[in-house]
Amino acid sequence: MASPVALVPTMGALHSGHEALLEMARALGKTVVASLFVNPTQFAEGEDFESYPRDRDRDLAIFKQRGVDAVFAPPVDEMYPSGGSMLVDPGPIGDLLEGRQRPGHFRGVTTIVTKLFALIRPDLAMFGEKDAQQLVVVRHLVRDLMLDVEIVGVPTVREPDGLAFSSRNIYMSAPERRAASVLYRSLSRAEELWNEEERDGEALRSAVRDCVAREPLVELEYVSVADPEDLFELDTAGERAIVSVAARVGRTRLIDSITLTSRADAGEEP
Ligand code: PAF
Repeated sequence: MASPVALVPTMGALHSGHEALLEMARALGKTVVASLFVNPTQFAEGEDFESYPRDRDRDLAIFKQRGVDAVFAPPVDEMYPSGGSMLVDPGPIGDLLEGRQRPGHFRGVTTIVTKLFALIRPDLAMFGEKDAQQLVVVRHLVRDLMLDVEIVGVPTVREPDGLAFSSRNIYMSAPERRAASVLYRSLSRAEELWNEEERDGEALRSAVRDCVAREPLVELEYVSVADPEDLFELDTAGERAIVSVAARVGRTRLIDSITLTSRADAGEEP
C-alpha cells in the first residue's frame, strides 16, 4: 500500500471515541477520509433516527482539527436514490444480540458500509471496538463479499468512571448518567473472574447480571459471552470471548463490551 486511504465512517455527533478513530486513521493513512451520514436504514421502526443528535458545524470543525483530508457528507436521497430497495443481507450473524433487539439494524449497517467502500474505495477503515458486533459483522462483510479493505478495530474510549463514550450519552439525566457507569463495572467484574480462570459462560453472564441488578435505574436487556469469530454464546470459553451488554437507562439505550483474552493469546485482534 503505497499511499493508503483510511476511512472513518461516522454518523456525526462526534466524541472522544470518534477522535480515537480519526487519530488511528491519521497514523495509518496517507489520506484520511471521514464520512458524516446518519443512515436511516440502520434505525428500526420507532427508534431515534429523527432525533439523533446532529451538529454538522461542530463535526466539521473536529474533522479539520484532526487533520481529515476530505469529508463525505451526502444527503439521504443520494445514498438511497431508488428509495433503498437493494440491501446487503448480513445473514444469521445480523440476527444475534443487537440484531434481535433492533431488527434490520445490521442490514442497514452492511448496506451503507458497502456503499461507502464502493464510493470512497479506502484501503483501511476504522471501527470502534465498543460496537463489538458491528466490528465482527463488518469483518464478515469484507471477507464474504471479498472486499479489498483492511478493517482496523480501535479500542473503546471511556469516561473517568468507565462509561464508554457514545453519541447517545447526552440523552441521560444526571442521576441516569451516574447509574450508567454500572455497565463498565459489570464488564470489569467479568474480567476479574476471567483473570481468576473462570471460563464458564453462564458464571460470567450471571456475574454481570448480578452487578447490574444492584443499580435500579439500569434495566439490562441482554448479557452475552460469545465467541469473537461468530458471536455464538459460549458454554465454556476457550482463549477468547467477547462480553457484551445492552441496557436501558431511562429512555436511553446503551451498549458496551470488552474482549477477554488469555495471556498467551494477548495481542491478536478480536
Ligand atoms: O458506527 C456508526 O457510527 C455507524 O454504524 C456507521 C459505521 C457509521 C454506519 O452508519
